[in-house]
Amino acid sequence: MSYSTDDIHKKVKKLLYALTGITLADNKDIMISNRIDKLKRDSKYQGNIEDLLKLIENGSYVTEFINSFTTNKTHFFREDFHFLDLKNRALPNLAKSGNKINMYCSASSTGEEPYSMAMTVLEVQDKIGKRLNASIIATDIDTNVLQYAANGVYRYSKSSKEFPSWIKPSKYFKRRIQRNLSGEEILIKVKDELRKMLSFEVMNLNDDSYPFAKNQFDIIFCRNVLIYFSSSDQNKILKRLFSYLKIGGTLYLGHSENPQDLVNYVKRVGQNIFIKEKEIF
Ligand SMILES: C[S@@+](CC[C@H](N)C(=O)[O-])C[C@H]1O[C@@H](n2cnc3c(N)ncnc32)[C@H](O)[C@@H]1O
Repeated sequence: MSYSTDDIHKKVKKLLYALTGITLADNKDIMISNRIDKLKRDSKYQGNIEDLLKLIENGSYVTEFINSFTTNKTHFFREDFHFLDLKNRALPNLAKSGNKINMYCSASSTGEEPYSMAMTVLEVQDKIGKRLNASIIATDIDTNVLQYAANGVYRYSKSSKEFPSWIKPSKYFKRRIQRNLSGEEILIKVKDELRKMLSFEVMNLNDDSYPFAKNQFDIIFCRNVLIYFSSSDQNKILKRLFSYLKIGGTLYLGHSENPQDLVNYVKRVGQNIFIKEKEIF
């Protein structure tokens, strides 16, 4: 028996929700069809989509399925006012204590966001003339983007527009020219000083708990990922994330995301920038 496109899309949405928490709206039919084509290509599965979806339900091709349905749009210093706050307020304050600075990037995609956090740390270090002992854990559910991020190689044409005036890319990246059929392109690779501050791990934000200690982090970036979840799931994720943030630590959310139930437990200090004031009990 073969299913209608509508049945297949319903099944995809159900599976995607069960595996990732991502909720796809009803007007996403074209996108779902495109992603199904990507899934077929990446999984190299020769049979029909109905059978492939059954296999995924039973635990095969799960990684290929998840990687096909995530949206990974990102760039260096996206919403650059967050990095300005990090540079001018959050990190200088943390530096005063001399303690280790623990940072978390919860949906790192191809790495531009956590590398921007790391560049900001090094800028502050140079400015205050004191070595900062900082580390950044970056996670994502998509194993392909994490691999890309760990590799740390980017096309300069894409990235060059993205650096704010206070960042000199040559300080943090090595340049290499690559010749290919369509001509030449400039690749940039993150230098070791930046790379060694970061670790990349696969993690599902929709899991019941995360592999961190309570109040582990001074800084959490959770940007442009909550938008893929239902409002009640966003709230659950935010509360979970919040338990891993120290009192006095800073949470950065994406431009169209809001702190939901955290609102009574935080102080807003900028555009979607929140300082944790108390625990939720
Ligand atoms: C649009 S990108 C945002 C990247 C970056 N935070 C930024 O603001 O530029 C969203 C990322 O969230 C990841 N993602 C989606 N669902 C997730 C989940 N359940 N757990 C962890 N990451 C998830 C996707 O794989 C994707 O890389």
